[in-house]
Amino acid sequence: MAFRAPKGTDDVLPPVSRDWLRAERTFVDLAEVFGYDTVLTPYFEATELFSRGVGEATEVVDKQMYTFSDKGGRSLTLRPEATASLVRAMIEAGGVTGTAKIAVWGPMFRYERPQAGRRRQFYQGDIEYFGERLAEADIEVIEFGYRYLDQMGVPDVVVALNSIGDAEDRVAYRAILIEWLRERAGDLSDDARKRIDANPLRVLDSKADSAIVADAPAPIDHLGSEAAEHFQTVQSGLRRLQIPYRIEPRLVRGLDYYNRTVWEYLSSGYEAAQDAAGGGGRYDGLFELLGGKPTPAVGVAMGIDRIMLMAEHPPTGRALDVFVVVADPDRRDAALDLVSELRRRGFRTDIELAERSVSAQFKAADRRAAAVALVVGEEWSNGEVTTRDLATGEQEAVALEDIEPWLRRR
Ligand code: HAM
Repeated sequence: MAFRAPKGTDDVLPPVSRDWLRAERTFVDLAEVFGYDTVLTPYFEATELFSRGVGEATEVVDKQMYTFSDKGGRSLTLRPEATASLVRAMIEAGGVTGTAKIAVWGPMFRYERPQAGRRRQFYQGDIEYFGERLAEADIEVIEFGYRYLDQMGVPDVVVALNSIGDAEDRVAYRAILIEWLRERAGDLSDDARKRIDANPLRVLDSKADSAIVADAPAPIDHLGSEAAEHFQTVQSGLRRLQIPYRIEPRLVRGLDYYNRTVWEYLSSGYEAAQDAAGGGGRYDGLFELLGGKPTPAVGVAMGIDRIMLMAEHPPTGRALDVFVVVADPDRRDAALDLVSELRRRGFRTDIELAERSVSAQFKAADRRAAAVALVVGEEWSNGEVTTRDLATGEQEAVALEDIEPWLRRR
């Protein structure tokens, strides 16, 4: 029988894998530019970390977790997201002194109905700003995601923004919402009806009930004064940075740990993908919930699979700078030495090891998406190689000692 990748997962093959690598590098570089350090955490965790951290009543925990017992009988879950893991890691390392800014990149796992942009193994680039309660931290994290989408070529990005207030604000709001939902219980989906009392905010997030809840009381109309002021500061920061946003009063996000600011990035490339290109929010209560000291925090995760679908001009860069072509079989060793020398100087360089015709080698150079071919032939005895630009076909003879500056000039 022929094996296939599991449902909802993908093999990312060249040349597309090159775009993915670029997406990862762009993310890692931008995180460094913004002052974030990397933390690596396991791809699986104790199941309870997510049920407690993300919330028992969320879709993610209720329906989407890849949970299994290992041979030691422990219940483990493939991480559906990174935030709970990162908070666990920080607590385990002794907690956050002052502030810590952390980035992580990698696969996440959710048992979802697979579609374009909705995968069972998908990739996130995630940053978290730990230990800072000021609204400027929210602004920075929102800006980070916005800049990332810009660098990735995602068109017309708008931030859908909301504040869901603090836990205290939500006590009063919750009662109002429960009352409102109860009156309409007959029209709600079964799932939503079950959640009215346990977790009414989740009902606002339910796609099946979106028409009904469009008129529901909104958390933003029930903010306490501190949360309201925080939210004003976030908005004026975004205006100063000229980051387009619109308030979505019923945006609550699908995870339970949030308070105050929540947001998602939407794009006109939206139809091609599913939902948002990324989303985040503030979660000042999660450290305590997971057994740590109170530590304010705000973070965002960018959905790489969706960004790849939304990017208007996915840049398929050249994979190789140089392909060395052996035109004279007697000079094969010289060609191999040239390959080694170019690699040591940092040029992405390759060669066909088997003896092939020159035209077959040029075909290989094209297939491998090289920018330039360097032909090692008769000219070698004069200390020269012939260069060929593989896009234009232009050729010239270049002295060996000039090869490096010639390549760098391109
Ligand atoms: P999230 O909204 O669940 O948030 O996921 C963030 C992004 O990951 C989504 O906007 C989407 O682009 C992508 N995504 C989610 N599920 C899938 C899927 N099945 N297939 C493809 N892409 C998907 C979080 O995960 C939070 N941890 C974000 C955060 C960080 N909040 C604070 N810090």
